[in-house]
Amino acid sequence: MTILAPSILGADFKQLGEQIRLVDEAGAQYIHIDVMDGYFVPNISVGMPVISSLRSATDKVFDVHMMVTEAGRYVQKMRDCGADIITVHAEACRHLDQVLRKIRSCGARAGVSLNPATPVQAVEHVLPLADMALIMTVNPGFGGQERIPYTLDKIHMLRQICDRRGIPMDIQVDGGVTYDNVEEFLEAGANVIVAGSAVFQGDVTSNVKAFLKKFEEFEKR
Ligand code: DX5
Ligand code: ZN
Repeated sequence: MTILAPSILGADFKQLGEQIRLVDEAGAQYIHIDVMDGYFVPNISVGMPVISSLRSATDKVFDVHMMVTEAGRYVQKMRDCGADIITVHAEACRHLDQVLRKIRSCGARAGVSLNPATPVQAVEHVLPLADMALIMTVNPGFGGQERIPYTLDKIHMLRQICDRRGIPMDIQVDGGVTYDNVEEFLEAGANVIVAGSAVFQGDVTSNVKAFLKKFEEFEKR
């Protein structure tokens, strides 16, 4: 199934609870929460207190994307404040294998993310330890950027690797996804779609519904 994960980085922060309610009611399956440390990426966003306070606003899956150096230090804390999926960057974890095991052992689903320039081979051996692989389609740190076209090849390559090895992996894409270009990502093999600006700019409810309708049409093809 194709999943929409609206990134709250694109939302209006002064009414975050209400914005989450809107995407929830419109049918989005995940809430994508970007955590940035100002070191791994050149920006600082939100952390544990915000996430735990948002937890009571929705029952939807909290998909926490940690753009944090040695994110393994915060796995248990993220789980405690309500993360259902915890995604860490391969580039930011010295012992990626251990961190992914730690995520699963605290009861969350494990995600592993790659920056645009990092080859998919960097995660090949740890795929059985992950439930989701995130191919960044922009350099992480900011919403509202243009997608980087070569990342499509990476999605395609990763889907082939997973299929060849019989691994039923969720492949997530994040950055620069719009209503007009989302089909390229679906065709390449992604099935979890993050969208920040494309969901939160304009009419949130109709944006979510338009994405979901497109996913349904794609699945029927
Ligand atoms: C970027 C974040 C994204 C971002 C996506 O570092 O990981 O989740 O919010 O925003 P858009 O969809 O506007 O590119
Ligand atoms: Zn993200």
